[in-house]
Amino acid sequence: MAWVNGLQDVVAAGTELSEVNGEVGKLSYRGRDVGDLVGKFDYEDVAHLLWFGELPSEPQKQSLNELFFSGRQAANEVFDVIDNLPAAVDAMNAAAIGLLCMRAPSGDESDASAAAWYTAAFPVLLLRHYANQHGLLKPRPDIHAGHVATYLYLLRGGIMPTTEEVQALEAYMVLTMEHSLNASAFAGRVAASTRANTARALVAALMTMTGPLHGGAPSLVLDMFDAIGSLSRADEWLEGELSMGRRLMGFGHRVYRTVDPRAQVLHTIAAKSLAGQDSLVLAEGVERRAVKLLAAAKPGRQLHPNVEYWAACVLRSLDIPRSLLTATFAASRMAGWSAHILEQRRCDKLIRPQAVYVAAP
Ligand code: CMC
Repeated sequence: MAWVNGLQDVVAAGTELSEVNGEVGKLSYRGRDVGDLVGKFDYEDVAHLLWFGELPSEPQKQSLNELFFSGRQAANEVFDVIDNLPAAVDAMNAAAIGLLCMRAPSGDESDASAAAWYTAAFPVLLLRHYANQHGLLKPRPDIHAGHVATYLYLLRGGIMPTTEEVQALEAYMVLTMEHSLNASAFAGRVAASTRANTARALVAALMTMTGPLHGGAPSLVLDMFDAIGSLSRADEWLEGELSMGRRLMGFGHRVYRTVDPRAQVLHTIAAKSLAGQDSLVLAEGVERRAVKLLAAAKPGRQLHPNVEYWAACVLRSLDIPRSLLTATFAASRMAGWSAHILEQRRCDKLIRPQAVYVAAP
């Protein structure tokens, strides 16, 4: 019996949530091109589309806002847990602990209210721990603002972000909310298939995202810019990395064989917010050179910038700290993961593939 390393090209589920066309570089959520959602709908609208299959009507949006509000309140109830964690605990781990300590929302596990509840709670827990780690102000999370504005408000110790800042982060969060059967969504679905509850399945997804081959790349992209320093050193540095067999962070993708459509939109946003700044010149120059060098080093592989490359630049322009880049990605992906968990529950079949025993040589 043969097996496929990394399950590459193996179809392991059917999903109504999103479609990734890696050949032409297209991503849609429930049949809607993601580029058409950005700028027109907020995070909660698009989460509603994923969870319920349609954009919300006015009353539906109001109910959803109430659910987000109560999710934030529920996070409040476990602040004593968060406040007693050592500062050395990573913020994403702290938020995961908080999720596992929260009381479960009322309603059954197959209903989307748990999805909204935990999606709203995650940033509150995350940013509470971040504030504890850095001795920052800890504003109360019970404000009547959108999910994305609340994120920046909590991060900045109670200072409301500008409309432009909310628009930039909202675009990022809508673009990265869902991406079919990526490693973390798969982990969440495996956990849900055992009938583990929503909080536990979300934590399985969360922890899977932390690796550098998945959600851990953006801070490494910024480290790369720092190491290169100036464009005149880019070729030498990039060639050096490739000659040592290292991977260039923010390039390549398991599914896209062309430019990642999310990277294109984020590049446009970064170009606007970083206009005239050296960091934009460096990012655009490194991108051009890296694509050229990767084409020469890996002929036939089609290695282009992925979402993480330009996400790192957009998040930096919003002063999101480097240590929170993966966690911010996770905050946006909560809606997608929970939608997968709900979808998996409806199929109600334990995910349990086979392995072939191979005797040690
Ligand atoms: N730099 C240098 N070489 C690369 C890169 C890269 N960024 N990406 C792939 N390759 C090479 C790899 O070394 C391998 O070469 P060879 O065949 O000679 O051994 C070949 O391309 C195929 O690599 P692979 O790991 O089998 O391909 P994959 O499709 O499984 O990899 C990937 C996908 C994202 C893990 C990979 O492109 C990578 O490691 N990129 C850098 C890390 C990164 O940017 N991660 C964020 C991913 S996007 C966000 C997300 O989906 O979560």
